[in-house]
Amino acid sequence: MTARLPDTLPITRGCPYAPPDEHRRLQQEAPISRVTLPSGMTVWALTRHEDIRTMLTDPRFSSDRRNPNFPLLLEGQRLNTDFVPSLIGMDPPEHGPARREVVGEFTVKRMAALRPRIQEIVDEHIDAMLAGPRPTDLVKALSLPVPSLVICELLGVPYDDHDFFQARSSLLLSRTASPEERKRAVDELREYLGELILAKERVPADDLLSRRLAKSDDHEELKSLAFLLLVAGHETTANMISLGTMTFLERPEDIRTIHEDPSRTLPAVEELLRYFTIAEIATSRVAVDDTEIGGVPIRAGEGVVALSNTANRDPETFDRPDELDLERGARNHLAFGFGAHQCLGQNLARMELQIVFDTLFRRIPGLRPAVPLDTLPFKDDANVYGIHEFPVTW
Ligand code: HEM
Repeated sequence: MTARLPDTLPITRGCPYAPPDEHRRLQQEAPISRVTLPSGMTVWALTRHEDIRTMLTDPRFSSDRRNPNFPLLLEGQRLNTDFVPSLIGMDPPEHGPARREVVGEFTVKRMAALRPRIQEIVDEHIDAMLAGPRPTDLVKALSLPVPSLVICELLGVPYDDHDFFQARSSLLLSRTASPEERKRAVDELREYLGELILAKERVPADDLLSRRLAKSDDHEELKSLAFLLLVAGHETTANMISLGTMTFLERPEDIRTIHEDPSRTLPAVEELLRYFTIAEIATSRVAVDDTEIGGVPIRAGEGVVALSNTANRDPETFDRPDELDLERGARNHLAFGFGAHQCLGQNLARMELQIVFDTLFRRIPGLRPAVPLDTLPFKDDANVYGIHEFPVTW
């Protein structure tokens, strides 16, 4: 099936609340089609919820970013690094055992034990907001520090170094940074984590890195894991805090709802995750064997982009898909991916978002945007969607 539209797949959203129109037209007119990415690569675009779930559970689709046919959105984005991939870039048979080694760190029970500390972190940052000047940038005051501190404490990374690792993570996810800048960011972050691992080997502490070191002395592998968890663990959730807060501020009746009945916050978080699907390019793959999806043959060596933001609006799967219904609570969305690589940190992310929304609107009932929402700098230039800066006041 060849799509008449578009010739080159746009990768930025026209409207912060919706996938690009062209992606929607593909879903309606040619749901599995060959498209050209801005990088010049021609790949398959999948737009239907069911097809993406099928693809993400088929081991003939590889996550190995070192494969030259792995979809590349923009020219020059491939990282020429020789480090060992961690979970997100691994395939069977290595991926399963590697994931089982860390999954115990992210169980619901483990996350519940973290809850009081996360609440404390959120409260401290809201205290600081209330004591500080108005307006303030929500991203700097709350969205970024909360998940950064949490992942730092979990891993055993000193939070004092947050400027260093936040700047490098954001370069890595940027669509405008040069290949050299991105490579430098990776090298510097890996070097930093390598030194940290050596220090933990000398003086272990009660943290994930020390626990992993007690079981394996493979520093290269641990560096890759630490790198992945540190980057994936803060930017994503930070962006959802900003986008979620913006959305709630536009819907005061929903703030009242979760305030009166906090059991409604988690379903709201779930719907916000579906609605924004901020990390859709994470679910790209490359076929390593001939296969087929939805009756369409896909050959070994062909790349596939799963347009999960569009699939999360698939009318076959979701009623009134374009409506933000904070009571919907549908957990079958693809915002955390699906299958073997489904987000390891999803329980943590849900809990952080729940605590932030419950606490923020209770403690600052007069919170409001300090600028018109349509002037906010949305992250059209990054691989994870979000907001660069969000001035708020109260
Ligand atoms: C995987 C999204 C938060 C760690 C993924 C994937 C998505 C995703 C779409 C699937 C990638 C694939 O299929 O290849 C998100 C979103 C988040 C979030 C939207 C926040 C709202 C987190 C947090 C952590 C984390 C807080 C860490 C603590 C990971 C890891 C993987 C992953 C390690 C790879 C798992 C594997 O390959 O087995 N995430 N994530 N994520 N995420 Fe998240």
